[in-house]
Amino acid sequence: MPDASPAIMPTYGRLPVTFARGEGAVLYDTTGRAYLDGLSGIAVTNLGHQYPRVTQAVAEQAGRLIHTSNLFHIGLQEAVAEQLRAATGMENMFFCNSGAEANEAAIKLARRYGDQKGIASPQIIVLDGAFHGRTLGALSATGNQKIRQGFGPLLEGFQRVAPDDLPAVEALAAERQDIVAVLVEPILGEGGVRPLAVDYLQGLRGLCDQHEWLLMFDEVQTGNGRCGSTYVFEQLGVEPDVLLTAKGLGNGLPIGACMAKGVAAEQLGPGDHGSTYGGNPLCCAAAQAVLTALAEDGVMQQAILIREALISGLQDKLCDASLVSEVRGRGLMIGIQPSTATGEIVKRGLDQGLLLNIAGGDTIRVLPPLVMTLEQAGELGAGIAQILNDVAEQEDNA
Ligand SMILES: Cc1ncc(COP(=O)(O)O)c(C=O)c1O
Repeated sequence: MPDASPAIMPTYGRLPVTFARGEGAVLYDTTGRAYLDGLSGIAVTNLGHQYPRVTQAVAEQAGRLIHTSNLFHIGLQEAVAEQLRAATGMENMFFCNSGAEANEAAIKLARRYGDQKGIASPQIIVLDGAFHGRTLGALSATGNQKIRQGFGPLLEGFQRVAPDDLPAVEALAAERQDIVAVLVEPILGEGGVRPLAVDYLQGLRGLCDQHEWLLMFDEVQTGNGRCGSTYVFEQLGVEPDVLLTAKGLGNGLPIGACMAKGVAAEQLGPGDHGSTYGGNPLCCAAAQAVLTALAEDGVMQQAILIREALISGLQDKLCDASLVSEVRGRGLMIGIQPSTATGEIVKRGLDQGLLLNIAGGDTIRVLPPLVMTLEQAGELGAGIAQILNDVAEQEDNA
């Protein structure tokens, strides 16, 4: 297959396949070949393809009203906000169109909080290896040096520490009077599906309470059912002051949210922030259907079973258990750490009709939809094992 059209800026290294249709956990390419979807469009189509509630809601809303602007009341936006409040305990929220924008809103909110406290140059603590998006604020918060390289000058105002290193955060608290917030992904996604330790997150909550900092969770990737609960913080016993999401919220329609409670919910007023499309009727119809499905259709309860089926498919088929050194993550955010090289794994997966991904350089990141059948999950796990067996055999023969 030729490269993408020269009319497209080459910002992505694209795999040589074009999809024409999707159904549940299966995508079909333009020749009709089926692929098992272990990626969900990078944690977006959490309910799979053509989920009836979502398809119907989007089709009906597109036929009625797509966009008006935030200059007017938007009933569907208010309805989604109420669903999110009920699901999270957050008090209010700003709707945007992407994960990066949800992070931008949080950065502005934290800076305004600092400004209100009379801090001239407010600082936000962020983590090495974190990913928060590609816009300049979110990029500045991102920990991956390779992604930031060449786009300076970036934003000031971020203090970077290693994940799970609470003493480093305590040291910053002792040194500086200008910290206003801590921004973390509870499970680093792009960084290689690396869950932060629960006692570390609890420690962060304690420090935030002690120093009146805002604890901000980026649940763009972990949220919307992906980890087996609407948001993963529910499983951790740690509640953030600011909760960010996007990706799965619209199951493919672009919608994100920056949710806040307590003092965080009081920072942004009229004229302080905006988005032309943010929370428009079409995207909110999708989000309403997604949140209703998560609350009522029993899909999240499947996450743990699908995970188990996938992992046992993997373990049963591996010719040598030591080919996998660790399986990480929660629910259907799965990181498989191979002990072999990962260079060709995505390409080999594609050849076998499996959609896989590498995150953090060498971790196989598997993000299946919540509607994957247990049989498909077993097949996906076995397929990954087969690839690892083949790679190991090739290395042995080399
Ligand atoms: C944790 C996290 N935050 C933010 C983003 C950025 O989201 P978007 O690509 O929608 O801007 C991503 C995307 O991968 C993400 O995983």
